[in-house]
Amino acid sequence: MSSDMYKEIILDYYKNPRNRGTMESPQSTARDSNPLCGDVIEMQLKFANGKVSDIKFNGDGCAISQASASMLTEMVMGKSIEEVRQIDKTALLENLGSPNLGAVRIKCALLSLKVMKTALYQHLGESLPPSDESNA
Ligand code: FES
Repeated sequence: MSSDMYKEIILDYYKNPRNRGTMESPQSTARDSNPLCGDVIEMQLKFANGKVSDIKFNGDGCAISQASASMLTEMVMGKSIEEVRQIDKTALLENLGSPNLGAVRIKCALLSLKVMKTALYQHLGESLPPSDESNA
């Protein structure tokens, strides 16, 4: 994908975020920040029949962190818990259209993944596996 196209995708999600907001009575909530800049992402999830029945994000930060969070909510909505476990940084970066972000921007893009996985494992009563621990 050309870098212009990838920028357009990021800007579209940044300006028209999908699933942004807060929900009533989430079953799991997690929040974290990028230590480099302090930007914040919060994710709220609800589950039904072994699937994610609702997901919302909120946050404050750069276009990449917010666009990535919005896109991730679309990747997770309606998926089974097992499918959500399998979503990794490669899948998210490919969806964002840029597997080759620089080291600093990768931290922006992957903050949402770490927060979403933290909320998922919190709900399951499990600890975050080391592979999801690092957002770089
Ligand atoms: Fe803070 Fe991107 S600059 S998350």
